[in-house]
Amino acid sequence: MSESLHTVTAMPAERRPGCPFDPPEELIRAREHGPISRLPFPSGHQGWLVTGYDLVRSVLADARFSSRKELMRHHPLIDYGDIEVPPAPPGEFLLMDEPQHSRYRKPLVGKFTARRMRLLTERIEQITAEHLDAMAQAGPPADLVTAFAKPIPVIVICELLGVPYADRGRFQENIDGFMNGETSDEELIAAYTAVQAYLSELVAAKRADPTDDVLSDLLDSDLTDEELRGIALILLAAGFDTTANTLALGAFALLRNPDQLAALRAEPALADRAVEELLRYLSVAKQFHRVALEDVELGGHTITAGTTLILSLNTANRDPERFPDPHALDLRRNDGSHLAFGHGIHQCLGQQLARVEMRVALPALIRRFPSLRLAVPAEQVALRPEAADIHGVKSLPVAWDA
Ligand code: HEM
Repeated sequence: MSESLHTVTAMPAERRPGCPFDPPEELIRAREHGPISRLPFPSGHQGWLVTGYDLVRSVLADARFSSRKELMRHHPLIDYGDIEVPPAPPGEFLLMDEPQHSRYRKPLVGKFTARRMRLLTERIEQITAEHLDAMAQAGPPADLVTAFAKPIPVIVICELLGVPYADRGRFQENIDGFMNGETSDEELIAAYTAVQAYLSELVAAKRADPTDDVLSDLLDSDLTDEELRGIALILLAAGFDTTANTLALGAFALLRNPDQLAALRAEPALADRAVEELLRYLSVAKQFHRVALEDVELGGHTITAGTTLILSLNTANRDPERFPDPHALDLRRNDGSHLAFGHGIHQCLGQQLARVEMRVALPALIRRFPSLRLAVPAEQVALRPEAADIHGVKSLPVAWDA
């Protein structure tokens, strides 16, 4: 049976004013029409937009849909013209299919298990306490993005990878440069090149003098230096910006939902569920692309080989057929099967780390500052543009009773 076919004219450039946490209205409307819509790309390519939870999940688990970068010639916002997209550099396995993908992911899996990540709890508590102390000492107001949400995940991922302390500031700036959605092409290339150059030096330094970290652990494998650099880049790019924006938007969402904030404060045992619900509600990694490798029947339609699909994770996580009252932030919701970390072979490698960071940092923040509040009207909190791959806030001014 064929579903009626809805067309979204273009990927939306912004969210509804006053709704910083909800997917753009056009995407919510598209899902109301059905789980899959047609989507013309600026290049003229006729692609698809998948917004229904079940369908997004099934595409993510289906090897007939590829993550290969060189096949993703159609960008949802830009017309690349005739530019050939090169394959992902060695090690950047997020953009590869099997068997290349497993070659890189397999040696890493054991290093990011829930048990291993729980062992980091104490260190993450310490890093969080240091930043909250510094905020308290400087006094209100503070920008929660620079004082709290960015530095905590940067320090954690840099320690895991063995990036020396002195290099972290430079690092954060360059990663920011290629994730914020506002950088010019030249700046983007400069930031990417700087990170690559730095990581080459780092891999060489680990070869010369291995230390106790994930990168040094991988030196015993048959991975080349170039591959190690690619792996390090993926871990940094995927691990820092996502967590930083989930922490910042998480704090913002709690401040905008005082009943939920009060519930979390009153009931620390709610923290695990609260983290899952914030992940679902915020879905900062809002969408990913896939390309059909062969003709596939999906939701009553034929997706022809070579066609690009956009999988809208944030809209799927607001699917009312899967989550009752989906646009409400309900920390007591007892259903962790959201798609915020994806699904299938590319499901987030760092999800247990992200969970521990959120579980530690957000409750510590609200405990430490019981009178925490926005220092500007909520409408004035500047969001990242929709063009950014990862949703987020540019800054989050807060105050408290000192
Ligand atoms: C993959 C989200 C934190 C490392 C993914 C994917 C999503 C995601 C949706 C799947 C992409 C796809 O299917 O194409 C998030 C969110 C995070 C987070 C929302 C924080 C709240 C982290 C952290 C790390 C990390 C802390 C690092 C240690 C990775 C890696 C992949 C990945 C390496 C690629 C996995 C693969 O291709 O096999 N992430 N992530 N992520 N994430 Fe995360």
